[in-house]
Amino acid sequence: MEQRCPDVFPLFVKSNINMVKAWLLNVVVLSILVAGCGAPKGKEAGDPLILQKDDHSFANFNEVRVNHISLDLTVDFDQKVLSGSARLSLNNITETNTLVLDVGDLSVNEIILDNGEATTFSLGKESEIFGQSLSIAIEPTTEWVEIKYATSPEAKALQWLSPEQTLGKEHPFLFSQSQAILARTWVPCQDGPGVKFTYDAKITTDSSLIALMSAENGTTKNADGIYTFKMDQPISSYLLALTVGDLEYQRMGRNSGVFAEPAMLEKSVYELESMQRMIDSAETLYGPYAWEQYDVVILPPSFPFGGMENPRLTFATPTIIAGDRSLVSLIAHELAHSWSGNLVTNETWNDFWLNEGFTVYFEQRIMEKIYGSSYERMLTKLGMGDLVNTIAELEKEGKLADTHLYLELDGRDPDDGLTDVAYEKGRFFLQTVESIVGRERFDSFLRTYFTVNKFKPMNTERFLNYLNDNLLSDEESVDLGADEWIYGPGLPDNCPEPFSEELDKVESSLAKYNNGLIGADKLVTDGYTTHHWLYFLRGLRNLDGNKMTELDAAFSFTETGNSEIACDWFKHVVDQSYKPAYPAMASFLKSVGRRKFLTPLYSRLAATPENKLWAKEVYELARPSYHSVSYITIDGILK
Ligand code: BES
Ligand code: ZN
Repeated sequence: MEQRCPDVFPLFVKSNINMVKAWLLNVVVLSILVAGCGAPKGKEAGDPLILQKDDHSFANFNEVRVNHISLDLTVDFDQKVLSGSARLSLNNITETNTLVLDVGDLSVNEIILDNGEATTFSLGKESEIFGQSLSIAIEPTTEWVEIKYATSPEAKALQWLSPEQTLGKEHPFLFSQSQAILARTWVPCQDGPGVKFTYDAKITTDSSLIALMSAENGTTKNADGIYTFKMDQPISSYLLALTVGDLEYQRMGRNSGVFAEPAMLEKSVYELESMQRMIDSAETLYGPYAWEQYDVVILPPSFPFGGMENPRLTFATPTIIAGDRSLVSLIAHELAHSWSGNLVTNETWNDFWLNEGFTVYFEQRIMEKIYGSSYERMLTKLGMGDLVNTIAELEKEGKLADTHLYLELDGRDPDDGLTDVAYEKGRFFLQTVESIVGRERFDSFLRTYFTVNKFKPMNTERFLNYLNDNLLSDEESVDLGADEWIYGPGLPDNCPEPFSEELDKVESSLAKYNNGLIGADKLVTDGYTTHHWLYFLRGLRNLDGNKMTELDAAFSFTETGNSEIACDWFKHVVDQSYKPAYPAMASFLKSVGRRKFLTPLYSRLAATPENKLWAKEVYELARPSYHSVSYITIDGILK
């Protein structure tokens, strides 16, 4: 980790310096590779790629690289602790005497080397965001180290739920969330996305529960509560995942299925009916699915994200189970990560757009294939709305550099980069490429890109070189202006304008309603789907208490069972202090832990003293049921 550039340093100078740094690194790496002098004697081709500096990891992965992890952990629900061992296999590239790992709040009891002897180790200074380094004395010939350790009950990746916090109310529940840099709080590892390793695991738990991981899984409970896992394809640490609970499985198709709590399984199966078709469509677009099986586990509502693309087993929020299958684009998104992210992986969190921008573009293509282009165009136009708002907000806060695709997150929590910029500006960048070269050429380029780079990290600079070398003519490269997109702020002029005939209908209703030309009860909303309603809610202007009452009477927004609609409605509820909806909003905030919903609502509530007081009361009750990812953010908002 390096010192940040001083804030007075002009941003463009910073980004240019970083470009030069990245370029220099590439030159150095290339010359090392070409001269073959970087690796010690005896190492052959196939040695790990030299990785860029990672601002969010202490690990010395360019000296010694972890290439396999064997976990043996026992799950203790009473103590809220995982304990046991992690055996890390090493490729000692430079024959170093020290292995540096990332850890967060772990108690390390003992470390054994492959010669059977205990070795010395030391923990570095603790940082609230990055955890600590764990430096272990090794020999140049050491092939593996075994770390005996236990997690802390406060481990940031893990959420331990009491039976009351589950649907079934009978059994406790555990799940992990490792992205971006939380794997280190439950597995000592080289916790940067550029490092890839295979893993296996033995998890011991209560025999009334099943354990599942981002690996080859069984589908039924074992009488002895011992579960073994194997992940033979290399993955990054942020994709390490574990969940333990009362979960049942239903197969959905050739290579897909769903896990959920028993009371949720039938609804989940209904909702995710299109899963197998999504997999098949994705394969026709960008090549074979590399992970054999694709399952989804529907977690309890405190899961802090919509979805997480853990290999072979997407973790998903139950808030997508709307009853009408209208929120399943999230599954297309997580599935798409099986190519963009899990196969070709952002090398550092500064390159996050390579994961998320590609995935949103790919998600859009899957949705178009399955539900048609009119549906896809609604999603894309809604995405543009989000992007425009996010860019405006970041500009207002003076965070212009955060509107670049390539981020500079040195010294900051990589979560700061988790905005619509990586997702939506990334998608529109790729759409711009498509608009310049045509769909056929772009698809064939992407298919090759995923094949050539599979199981490898990718960084922004290398991607741009790859794009110029393998797709764009000089003229097309000028038309695209990739540097402006990637290293510049806002939205470049050549971005295609999304168009949706469906949402244009909503637009004309909004124009009348917002200008007071028509009452809510006279609006023609026949055939509105979730996405029409979202566009409608986001386009409402000039609201007041009367209009809120009128809208609620006409469309019962307060009672909606659709989490996306609820969240957009509650934003207006707060802005207008529409008190009749406060009880429903309180129960939403208490039952749902998805940060994307919580953040805008608590932020708006914090804007006035009266609302802030109300929010604090609700939060006091809700906080114990949130995952750390969510409560750390909300603590910051309500402090
Ligand atoms: N990988 C992300 C979630 C993530 C990103 C977690 C960064 C931690 C750090 C996942 O694929 C994702 O993007 N989820 C979105 C849903 C998607 C449809 C935009 C979410 O959770 O809302
Ligand atoms: Zn994603």
